[in-house]
Amino acid sequence: MPVNPSIARAALSVDSIGFAYGNGHRVFDDFSLHARPGEFVAVLGPSGCGKTTLLNLLAGFQTAHSGQVLINGQAVRPELPELGYVFQAPQLFPWLSALDNVRFGLRMAGRGSDAEQQHRARAYLRMVGLEHAASRLVHQLSGGMQQRVSLARTLALQPTVLLMDEPFAALDAISRNHMNEETLRIWAELGQTVLFITHDIDEAVFLADRVVVLNIAPGGIHSELTIDLPRPRSNLITRRLAQFLDYRNELMERISTVMAQSLSLEPA
Ligand SMILES: Nc1ncnc2c1ncn2[C@@H]1O[C@H](COP(=O)(O)OP(=O)(O)O)[C@@H](O)[C@H]1O
Ligand SMILES: [Mg+2]
Repeated sequence: MPVNPSIARAALSVDSIGFAYGNGHRVFDDFSLHARPGEFVAVLGPSGCGKTTLLNLLAGFQTAHSGQVLINGQAVRPELPELGYVFQAPQLFPWLSALDNVRFGLRMAGRGSDAEQQHRARAYLRMVGLEHAASRLVHQLSGGMQQRVSLARTLALQPTVLLMDEPFAALDAISRNHMNEETLRIWAELGQTVLFITHDIDEAVFLADRVVVLNIAPGGIHSELTIDLPRPRSNLITRRLAQFLDYRNELMERISTVMAQSLSLEPA
């Protein structure tokens, strides 16, 4: 299929896809979403609108029935080395140390010698601020620390496109804000294209260059909002800016419109 040049330049391109589950539940109908290289896009929507399904399609875990999903111009498949994902559950091996959990990802991908894997795993643990905890087992790490190990394991594979599905949703608000700041620090250093899925409005505004609001499935995109807040962003400064609160209020209104529409669609 010929590809439109602006789409071919996108790092991540979902192009007119259709998708339904086996039980006939339609989630996407002619749905499109693009992200340019290095862009941080947050996808915001209420529970059940299709966020995880979208991420699974982007990761190649599910296949669209029509349309195409391209990562850096290539048809998506889970083993593309450009692709990294971080899920809500850290999914670590409890019998391995933090360092060995990060090394495991490298070993599975067959990247480098043992010594190189060890070196790289340590470098990425350092990047997420956990070098001091390298030898700890999973139960000796807090929820936030476990999520950082999981992030380090993904980052160590050096993906250029990072798919994140509510990675901090299980954390308390203080840890989540901290992880949001850390995510931006790492992103500024590594420059990946990020698709970050969340149902948390503040998180979306704090992180993203652009927030995409989804309708209830199969309603597609409700609207988009460009977040023109200065970078680098910090919890202490950014979250208190009048502009931050304006974006947040605007998105709250949009989400309540989406919710009202979904309620009006429910059978009486
Ligand atoms: N395996 C499945 N089979 C059938 N329906 C599913 C399946 N997984 C999810 N769904 C439905 O698809 C819709 C989108 O789900 P999901 O992508 O998980 O939403 P979100 O992540 O936004 O909460 C929901 O209505 C959900 O119930
Ligand atoms: Mg989900």
